[in-house]
Amino acid sequence: MAEPVRVGVVGLGTVGSGVVRLLMESAEHITRHAGRPIVVERAVCRDVGRDRGLQLAADRVSTDIHDVSRDPSISVAALLVGGLEPARSMMIDLLEHGKDVVTANKALLAEHGPELFEIARRHGRSIAFEAAVAGGIPIVAAIGECLAANRIESIRGILNGTSNFILSTMEQEGADYAEVLALAQAKGYAEADPSMDVDGTDATQKLAILSHLAFGTWVPWSEIPRTGIEGIDSDLMAFAADLGYRIRLVAVASRSNGRLAMRVAPALTRIGTPLAETRGAFNAVSIVGDAVGPMFFHGLGAGQMPTASAVVADIIDTVVGRAGITFRTTGVLDTDGLSGRIGEAELNERHFLRILASDRPGVLSRITGILGEHGISIASVIQRDPSGACGAAVPLVIMTHACGSSAIRKAVTHIDASDVVSGPTTCLGVIDD
Ligand code: NDP
Ligand code: HSE
Repeated sequence: MAEPVRVGVVGLGTVGSGVVRLLMESAEHITRHAGRPIVVERAVCRDVGRDRGLQLAADRVSTDIHDVSRDPSISVAALLVGGLEPARSMMIDLLEHGKDVVTANKALLAEHGPELFEIARRHGRSIAFEAAVAGGIPIVAAIGECLAANRIESIRGILNGTSNFILSTMEQEGADYAEVLALAQAKGYAEADPSMDVDGTDATQKLAILSHLAFGTWVPWSEIPRTGIEGIDSDLMAFAADLGYRIRLVAVASRSNGRLAMRVAPALTRIGTPLAETRGAFNAVSIVGDAVGPMFFHGLGAGQMPTASAVVADIIDTVVGRAGITFRTTGVLDTDGLSGRIGEAELNERHFLRILASDRPGVLSRITGILGEHGISIASVIQRDPSGACGAAVPLVIMTHACGSSAIRKAVTHIDASDVVSGPTTCLGVIDD
C-alpha cells in the first residue's frame, strides 16, 4: 500500500466535522478511490475545548493555521472556515506553503477568487471548490469538465438551501418565517450570518462562480441584480398557490443578445415542474448546452454530510491529480477574463403583480391603463371580495403576458408613484417550465 496522504482540516464546524467524520468512517472506501489512505493529520478551529464527537486526538487540534501550513507532511488542506477574513489570509498562507486547497467557501471565491487563483497558479498549487456551489450536487465538475464540449446557453436554479427550506416549510406547514429560519440554523444549513441566505447574497455568489465556469466571464457578484425572500409572506404564497404556482428563490444566467442576463429573485414556479417540486434544503440546477440540450440536477444543497461528500470528493481528486489537471487546463477564474460584464438583466417573461390598491371606482382602470402605457398586456386579474369599507386597501393580483423586465420595472415604479396604491407593489417573474 502506498504511503498515506496527510490532510489538514481548517474549520471544524458543520462542514469540517462532517469531512473528518467521512474521511474516518469511510476510510476503506476512500482509500480504494484515492489509491492510498487519506488521513487527517491536523485540524484547526477557534475553540479547541469543544467536544465535536470526533475521533481526533487533542494534540492534533489547535487554533493556529501555521500548524497546518508549516507542517511539511501535509500536502492538502480543506479550508472550511466561512467569511472573508481570516479565511482569505489562511488560504494564501496555505498556498504559499505548498498546500493544495479544497474549500466550500463561496463568499471567499466570489469576492477574492481571481486573486487567490492567481496565487495558486504562481505556486503551482490547485484550488478545488465543488462544495462551494449547490452542496452535494456535482455541478462544478459537470460544467467545468463533463459539459466542456458545450456552449452553455443558460443556467437556472435554486442555489440556496436555507431559503428553499424556509419557503417550502412555510408553504407546506403554514409555519412562521422566524421559526423556520431558526430551524434551518439548527440543522446547520444557514451561513454564520443568515441574512446572506435570505437576502439572496449567497445564491448570487454561487451564480457568479457558476457563470464564470459556464460562460468564461467573470462577473462581480455585487453587480448581479438580486432580491431576497424577506418580502414573501403567506398571503403571497396563497395567491401563488391559487394560480397553480409555488414561490422559489431562483438564480438565472442566460445569453441574451451577446450579453449575459443575470438575476437572483423570488419567482412563481408552476406546480409540477422540477423547480416548484424542489423542497427543503434541496437545490436544483437546470443547464442548457448547445450539444447536450437541457439537463437537470437535483440534490441536497446544504447540510453537513452532503457538503462533506463534495469536499471529500475534491480531496480525492486532488490526491489522484485530477483537480490539478482541471485547475491548470481550464484556466478557471483566470484573471484574463475579468473584462466580462453583464448588461441590464433583460429577461422576457410573464409577471405576477400584487398591488395594494384602494378599493374605489376607477382604480382598476387606472392601473391597467398604466400597464398598457408601458406595452404590458394583462393575462388575468384577481381581486377578492373586500371586507373593508370603500377606499380601504385591497390586494389586486395581476398576471401579465410575457414582457421585458425593464418595461415591468418602469410600470411598477409608475403604479407605486400614483395615488391609487397604499404600499409597494410586489412583482415576481413567472417560470412555467
Ligand atoms: P461553521 O460556522 O459551522 O464552522 C466554521 C468553523 O471555522 C468553526 O469550526 C470555527 O471554529 C472555525 N473558525 C472560524 N474562525 C476561525 C479562526 N479565526 N481560526 C480557526 N478556526 C476558525 O460553518 P460551516 O461549517 O457551516 O461552513 C463552513 C464553510 O462552508 C462556509 O464558507 C460556508 O459558506 C460553506 N458551506 C456550508 C454549508 C453548510 O451546509 N453548512 C454548505 C456548503 C458550503 P469553532 O468551531 O471553534 O468556532
Ligand atoms: N447557507 C448555504 C445554503 C449553505 O443554505 O445553501 C450551502 O452553500
